[in-house]
Amino acid sequence: MARTPLISGNWKMNLNHFEAIQLLQKLSYELRDHDYDAVEVSLHPPYTDVRSVQTVIDADRMQFQLGAQNCHAEVSGAFTGEISPAMLAKLDVNYVIVGHSERRALFGENNEMVAAKAAAVFGHEMTPIVCVGESLEERESGQAEAIVETQVRGSLASIAAEKLEELVIAYEPVWAIGTGVTASSEDAQEMCSHIRNIVGSMRKGAQQSVRIQYGGSVKPSNVVELMAMADVDGALVGGASLEAESFARIVNYKAA
Ligand code: 13P
Repeated sequence: MARTPLISGNWKMNLNHFEAIQLLQKLSYELRDHDYDAVEVSLHPPYTDVRSVQTVIDADRMQFQLGAQNCHAEVSGAFTGEISPAMLAKLDVNYVIVGHSERRALFGENNEMVAAKAAAVFGHEMTPIVCVGESLEERESGQAEAIVETQVRGSLASIAAEKLEELVIAYEPVWAIGTGVTASSEDAQEMCSHIRNIVGSMRKGAQQSVRIQYGGSVKPSNVVELMAMADVDGALVGGASLEAESFARIVNYKAA
């Protein structure tokens, strides 16, 4: 089955709403209509920028999918400081990253919380990008596959089985995030294939349509090799998505 690659820019806690619009306009200028023919592109600004980015995408008929970096699992209530999936859906958000390793490590998110968020995102007609990935210690002690399997099964536990077909999973080895060290394309392929098999074991046939991104120091110089792997269906890009030219070169990797 042909899976449309998804290239996502995770801006993390960078860019105020003015800077976000500048980057958006530069990025749009760098890309041509045909660049969007073969890939889907999602942008994940901080919450305070989402409305501004949505307005510009709409007004200028840009072909970006709007994304968010996180959300709460509940629709509303006494959750000071949180943003609900209903609020994001109202802003035309399509993709919501859940369970990013930074949220797991710095904000105490566990698989159960990630599962609730992923289900809530689907519940509001958006698609979650569920992040998984092992630490360096876990890889070096030979536990990477087992750790990732536990994360995948745990983080998808609350999703209705048929929704697994529409899901996006991002494999982001923690040791490759923001370090400049990328997993070799073979290591990325091996783990993405492992993840695909796990999803297939949870829902027969879902392995054919679930999209699996690789994330961790993706750059114009390594994207071609990574995207050539059979089970890598896209990239979740941090640092290199903050610069229009480098992100555009990642998006149109096919032209390289
Ligand atoms: P870098 O591309 O900066 O390594 O970040 C990866 C990431 O965490 C994307 O979610």
